[in-house]
Amino acid sequence: MGSTCKNRQKEEKMEYTASTAEQHIDILNLESLRDRVKENTEPGAFGYVAGAASDEQVLDENRKAFNHFQLVPRVLQNIEKPDMTTELLGIPLSMPIIGAPIAAHGLMHEGGEKVSAKGVGMAGTIMSVSTYGNARIDEVENENPGTPKFFQLYMSDDDNFNQYLLNMAYENNYKAIILTADATLGGYREDDIKTGFTFPIPMENLASFSNAAGSGQGMNIADIYAKARQSLNLADIKKVKSMAHGLPVFVKGIQDPEDAVAAIDFGADGIWVSNHGGRELNGAPGSIDVLPSIAQAVGKRVPIVFDSGIRRGEDVGKALALGADVVALGRPMLWALNLGGAQGVSDAFNHLAMEFNIVMQLTGSHNIEEMKKAHILTK
Ligand code: LAC
Repeated sequence: MGSTCKNRQKEEKMEYTASTAEQHIDILNLESLRDRVKENTEPGAFGYVAGAASDEQVLDENRKAFNHFQLVPRVLQNIEKPDMTTELLGIPLSMPIIGAPIAAHGLMHEGGEKVSAKGVGMAGTIMSVSTYGNARIDEVENENPGTPKFFQLYMSDDDNFNQYLLNMAYENNYKAIILTADATLGGYREDDIKTGFTFPIPMENLASFSNAAGSGQGMNIADIYAKARQSLNLADIKKVKSMAHGLPVFVKGIQDPEDAVAAIDFGADGIWVSNHGGRELNGAPGSIDVLPSIAQAVGKRVPIVFDSGIRRGEDVGKALALGADVVALGRPMLWALNLGGAQGVSDAFNHLAMEFNIVMQLTGSHNIEEMKKAHILTK
């Protein structure tokens, strides 16, 4: 479905038309959705979502690093139908795959986060809603009360704004807070520079707060990050916990075991292993390469969510076998949103689950606990 942006003159209001698709989508594999979206989407919006930092080696590493680990097939295990249901923080899940937090779903579909949350709910899993979403925290809940939701906080220097967001997440039945630790400022993203990308539509959490320094509309990502708290530190975990009405707090963007241990010492209820989809520090390792040492340091004290590079069923299996409790799906969820709305998002999760089912059966894993114990050969 088409997306166009007519930026006639800087002073003139931008018109932005995103997809309104609502349909099943054919999926050969998740990565193949990307080019279908590229063909029909305004280059600035596509580049913002698809792009990564600097020369983008870390984006490649997020995929290639999965080859450092191999799943050893097991046979004669008497499996007919593996059970991939699981839970996270007591929330029942149809699969060990949840939605990763991503800004600005409205770039990909007119209904933005309200529609993606519907699709994620249809698939039976958790939606993560970003501070920088195009829909407000309460709007996503109102349209999708049945979908379990996490809220991703980009901590602002303005604690009134932080409290406003955390109150709204709590009051609207969100189940956890994801404290973004890996993106106090943006990576050097050349796609955005080439297209001169600014957000064509408002971010409603920002727009609805009276002291907010802009709604995001007409701003580039660097302008937006400039309002975020640059001096984020360990004490902020405690601070967010004290402001979050008892909701559990994940710290997102952990890539070093020492940071994982410190985050837990300062109260983190969950560790989210991520390099922000390769959008921040180029030259960093592939995210899966750092998972084993982090899992060892965490020692099952808190749950681990893994993201950055998940595209295939075997990636899910490897991440679980290397210590993750669930994985989060990022860009492919947005490609599916663009192509098929809520139904498309649901199709994308179900496609990945279908691939993962094969992995479970062929590694002799009857259930998720057994998948986590699958044998891995490290190259
Ligand atoms: C980004 C933030 C907003 O990577 O998540 O653009």
